[in-house]
Amino acid sequence: EKGTYPHYMLKEIDEQPLVMRKIIQTYQNEQGELTIDSEIINAVSESDRVYIIAAGTSYHAGLVGKQFIESIAKIPVEVHIASEFVYNMPLLTKKPLFIFISQSGETADSRAVLVKVKEMGYRTLTITNVPGSTLSREADYTLLLHAGPEIAVASSKAYTAQLAVLAILADVTAKSQGIPVEFDLIHELGIIANAMEVLCDSKEIIEHISREFLSVTRNAFFIGRGVDYYVGLEGALKLKEISYIQAEGFAGGELKHGTIALIEEGTPVIALATQESVNLSIRGNVKEVVARGANPCIISMNGLNMDEDSFVIPEVHELLTPLISVIPLQLIAYYAALHRDCDVDKPRNLAKSVTVE
Ligand code: M6R
Repeated sequence: EKGTYPHYMLKEIDEQPLVMRKIIQTYQNEQGELTIDSEIINAVSESDRVYIIAAGTSYHAGLVGKQFIESIAKIPVEVHIASEFVYNMPLLTKKPLFIFISQSGETADSRAVLVKVKEMGYRTLTITNVPGSTLSREADYTLLLHAGPEIAVASSKAYTAQLAVLAILADVTAKSQGIPVEFDLIHELGIIANAMEVLCDSKEIIEHISREFLSVTRNAFFIGRGVDYYVGLEGALKLKEISYIQAEGFAGGELKHGTIALIEEGTPVIALATQESVNLSIRGNVKEVVARGANPCIISMNGLNMDEDSFVIPEVHELLTPLISVIPLQLIAYYAALHRDCDVDKPRNLAKSVTVE
């Protein structure tokens, strides 16, 4: 039930710190170490490539998950949109493992791929929020998100839960292979949960930002580099889905290859700056769009912030920033939809789970 919340989406955004703590607890053994069923870990570490298959927000989580698995567990990963993969299958390696990411576990596009790769004899793992869901029943293995029911059509807590579970999967796989992990993931996820709380308490500032940048516009751009680019894609999806503002996420460096032509006086450009290695280049991209009249909103991370920034997220481990930086974007979309009198929880033309291909 929504309780005192006006919308499920706001409630679900607020539940993220709790979900994070629940995941840390559930994936821990008695010795206080992260743990995952050894059959699953063997399936991951024996594979020569992981293929992540998903749609929408879960696809965006997959993009970040690739970063986690490659940099922590050192296994190559490809991420594919389910509806494309099913008709346009790439050349597969000899020992692939297929990971299906799906909040509902019912997405027909993902199921079509699952059925196909099972027929081909490959191993499959579903990461889902719904035990007993179709994708969970049909895959060889399941990892659960423990996020509690997600009712709003726009996914929020499932995304951050997917990221946490993917990070844990990468961490446990690395350790099983004797690959050193140079940070303590349990500790870092605890920091994430605290940072999430700080962000959920910053609603007034974010509502103000949403009003300032999005109240009159018809379109908006999200830019970032590396994982910030992937989070920008998710921010854009969230915004278009519930506020009907035309929004797109771009890799900062791609702007000059076409998109910058769309920048006009007052076009909102939301830039993420949470990665030290690209901090200056993304700020360079912001300067380029400002020179063409854009209205910039920079969301940076503490330690990398500058005077020009609109919002600064608390400092967390650099690899894990997507778990945090997405929250202001979820809230910006929420308030934009609210200010436009849109039906936040049930946006037009959309269903919570897409069970037709
Ligand atoms: O249940 P799934 O994670 O498989 O759903 C995939 C997409 O339909 C879903 O993420 C959709 O994009 C959301 N409405 C985004 O907020």
